[in-house]
Amino acid sequence: MCPVKAKLLCLTLAILFLSAFLLVSGGPAGAKDDAPPKDQAAQNGQSADKALFEKRCSKCHGLDKVTAKKETPEAWNATVQKMAAKWFSGISAEEAKAIAAYLAKTQGK
Ligand code: HEC
Repeated sequence: MCPVKAKLLCLTLAILFLSAFLLVSGGPAGAKDDAPPKDQAAQNGQSADKALFEKRCSKCHGLDKVTAKKETPEAWNATVQKMAAKWFSGISAEEAKAIAAYLAKTQGK
């Protein structure tokens, strides 16, 4: 009944997918001459992950629920996957990967 709506949904999904792809592929690895020094780039990557973590993981509960813990990379991956799978978590598969890696690095066991 609403072909326009379906098209819009498709477009939105395509844009989301594209930006997730750009986020992943456009990282420090693609650095050129005018790019900041490596360690600064790494820090920027880390703070982007931090911002993503703080945004996505504070939606349903406090960040303290997360920051109080230290887990193995496997356990973080499992927890983040579990959270991402919740209704309206707003966490994409790519974001879940980035957040799990960030947590494994900053709150590893
Ligand atoms: C859609 C809502 C929602 C979002 C978004 C969300 N959580 Fe949760 N989280 C919950 C609920 C509900 C619980 C308590 C029930 C449970 O454990 O599943 C919980 C519990 C937890 C717990 C304690 C229980 C356990 O399994 O260890 C941790 C740690 C946690 N969340 C981490 C995170 C992280 C990290 C993120 C971001 C990637 C996140 N959450 C995003 C809803 C959410």
